[in-house]
Amino acid sequence: MYTEKVMDHFQHPRNVGEIENASGVGTVGNAKCGDIMRIYLDVDSDQIIRDVKFKTFGCGAAVATSSMATELVKGKSVQEATKVTNKAVMEALDGLPPVKVHCSLLAEEAIHAALWDYAQKSGIEIEGLEQPKSDIHEGEEEEDEAY
Ligand code: FES
Repeated sequence: MYTEKVMDHFQHPRNVGEIENASGVGTVGNAKCGDIMRIYLDVDSDQIIRDVKFKTFGCGAAVATSSMATELVKGKSVQEATKVTNKAVMEALDGLPPVKVHCSLLAEEAIHAALWDYAQKSGIEIEGLEQPKSDIHEGEEEEDEAY
Protein backbone atom coordinates (compact mmCIF):
# COMPACT_ATOMS: atom_id res chain seq x y z
CA MET A 1 0.00 0.00 0.00
CA TYR A 2 2.98 2.33 0.52
CA THR A 3 5.58 3.08 -2.14
CA GLU A 4 9.22 2.17 -1.63
CA LYS A 5 10.10 5.81 -1.15
CA VAL A 6 7.49 6.25 1.58
CA MET A 7 8.81 3.17 3.37
CA ASP A 8 12.38 4.39 3.01
CA HIS A 9 11.61 7.83 4.48
CA PHE A 10 9.50 6.26 7.21
CA GLN A 11 12.22 3.81 8.22
CA HIS A 12 15.13 6.19 7.70
CA PRO A 13 13.73 9.68 8.17
CA ARG A 14 16.09 12.49 7.13
CA ASN A 15 16.68 15.62 9.18
CA VAL A 16 15.13 14.45 12.45
CA GLY A 17 15.88 16.62 15.44
CA GLU A 18 15.80 20.24 16.44
CA ILE A 19 17.83 23.38 15.80
CA GLU A 20 18.87 25.55 18.71
CA ASN A 21 18.17 29.24 18.16
CA ALA A 22 16.36 28.41 14.94
CA SER A 23 15.48 31.25 12.57
CA GLY A 24 11.93 29.96 12.45
CA VAL A 25 9.91 27.26 14.17
CA GLY A 26 6.49 26.03 13.09
CA THR A 27 4.19 23.64 14.89
CA VAL A 28 0.93 22.34 13.53
CA GLY A 29 -1.40 19.59 14.57
CA ASN A 30 -4.48 17.82 13.40
CA ALA A 31 -6.93 17.52 16.27
CA LYS A 32 -8.81 14.75 14.50
CA CYS A 33 -5.97 12.22 14.42
CA GLY A 34 -3.99 13.90 17.22
CA ASP A 35 -0.78 14.12 15.23
CA ILE A 36 1.66 16.98 15.67
CA MET A 37 4.56 18.16 13.56
CA ARG A 38 7.25 20.73 14.31
CA ILE A 39 9.74 22.14 11.81
CA TYR A 40 12.88 24.15 12.59
CA LEU A 41 14.58 26.33 9.97
CA ASP A 42 18.06 27.79 9.92
CA VAL A 43 18.01 30.65 7.41
CA ASP A 44 21.11 32.66 6.45
CA SER A 45 21.36 36.37 5.68
CA ASP A 46 20.65 35.71 1.99
CA GLN A 47 17.34 34.10 3.00
CA ILE A 48 18.56 30.64 2.02
CA ILE A 49 17.49 27.69 4.15
CA ARG A 50 20.80 26.25 5.30
CA ASP A 51 19.42 23.61 7.61
CA VAL A 52 16.08 22.18 8.53
CA LYS A 53 15.00 19.64 11.14
CA PHE A 54 11.71 18.15 12.16
CA LYS A 55 9.99 16.31 14.94
CA THR A 56 6.77 14.45 14.39
CA PHE A 57 4.48 12.80 16.85
CA GLY A 58 2.42 11.16 14.19
CA CYS A 59 1.70 8.32 11.88
CA GLY A 60 4.15 6.74 9.46
CA ALA A 61 2.95 8.83 6.54
CA ALA A 62 3.44 12.00 8.61
CA VAL A 63 7.03 10.92 9.34
CA ALA A 64 7.71 10.14 5.66
CA THR A 65 6.14 13.36 4.37
CA SER A 66 7.96 15.57 6.86
CA SER A 67 11.22 13.83 6.03
CA MET A 68 10.69 14.42 2.30
CA ALA A 69 9.48 17.99 2.87
CA THR A 70 12.67 18.85 4.77
CA GLU A 71 14.74 17.41 1.91
CA LEU A 72 12.82 19.51 -0.61
CA VAL A 73 13.21 22.86 1.19
CA LYS A 74 16.86 22.46 2.18
CA GLY A 75 19.07 24.80 0.17
CA LYS A 76 16.12 26.72 -1.24
CA SER A 77 15.33 30.38 -0.67
CA VAL A 78 12.47 31.09 1.71
CA GLN A 79 10.48 32.30 -1.28
CA GLU A 80 11.00 29.04 -3.19
CA ALA A 81 10.18 27.05 -0.06
CA THR A 82 6.65 28.45 0.00
CA LYS A 83 6.05 26.53 -3.23
CA VAL A 84 6.78 23.16 -1.65
CA THR A 85 3.20 21.99 -1.46
CA ASN A 86 1.84 18.75 -0.09
CA LYS A 87 1.31 17.74 -3.72
CA ALA A 88 5.00 18.22 -4.47
CA VAL A 89 5.88 16.18 -1.39
CA MET A 90 3.52 13.39 -2.43
CA GLU A 91 4.90 13.35 -5.95
CA ALA A 92 8.43 13.11 -4.61
CA LEU A 93 7.31 10.09 -2.59
CA ASP A 94 5.65 8.48 -5.65
CA GLY A 95 2.24 8.93 -4.07
CA LEU A 96 0.34 8.23 -0.87
CA PRO A 97 -2.80 6.19 -0.28
CA PRO A 98 -5.88 8.50 -0.40
CA VAL A 99 -6.62 8.14 3.33
CA LYS A 100 -3.11 9.44 4.07
CA VAL A 101 -3.21 12.56 1.92
CA HIS A 102 -4.10 14.73 4.93
CA CYS A 103 -0.83 13.67 6.58
CA SER A 104 1.13 15.41 3.83
CA LEU A 105 -0.83 18.59 4.55
CA LEU A 106 0.68 18.63 8.03
CA ALA A 107 4.14 18.78 6.44
CA GLU A 108 3.18 21.65 4.13
CA GLU A 109 1.54 23.62 6.92
CA ALA A 110 4.43 23.06 9.34
CA ILE A 111 6.86 24.44 6.76
CA HIS A 112 4.62 27.42 6.14
CA ALA A 113 4.30 28.00 9.88
CA ALA A 114 8.10 27.94 10.29
CA LEU A 115 8.51 30.35 7.35
CA TRP A 116 5.87 32.61 8.89
CA ASP A 117 7.70 32.57 12.22
CA TYR A 118 10.98 33.39 10.45
CA ALA A 119 9.34 36.30 8.59
CA GLN A 120 7.83 37.66 11.81
CA LYS A 121 11.10 37.41 13.71
CA SER A 122 13.16 39.05 10.98
CA GLY A 123 10.57 41.66 10.04
CA ILE A 124 10.27 40.65 6.41
CA GLU A 125 7.37 39.69 4.23
CA ILE A 126 7.39 36.51 2.16
CA GLU A 127 5.27 36.99 -0.91
CA GLY A 128 2.24 34.74 -1.08
CA LEU A 129 2.68 33.37 2.43
CA GLU A 130 -0.42 33.49 4.59
CA GLN A 131 -0.65 33.06 8.33
CA PRO A 132 -0.89 29.31 8.83
CA LYS A 133 -3.41 27.51 10.98
CA SER A 134 -2.12 25.76 14.05
CA ASP A 135 -4.65 22.98 13.65
CA ILE A 136 -5.22 21.91 10.08
CA HIS A 137 -8.36 20.05 11.04
CA GLU A 138 -10.06 23.22 12.33
CA GLY A 139 -10.01 24.74 8.86
CA GLU A 140 -11.89 21.80 7.42
CA GLU A 141 -15.07 22.40 9.38
CA GLU A 142 -14.79 25.61 11.33
CA GLU A 143 -13.38 28.00 8.81
CA ASP A 144 -14.74 31.04 10.66
CA GLU A 145 -13.36 30.07 14.02
CA ALA A 146 -9.88 29.18 12.87
CA TYR A 147 -8.33 32.24 14.50
FE1 FES B 1 -2.73 12.06 11.26
FE2 FES B 1 -1.30 10.79 9.51
S1 FES B 1 -3.01 10.04 10.56
S2 FES B 1 -1.03 12.77 10.24
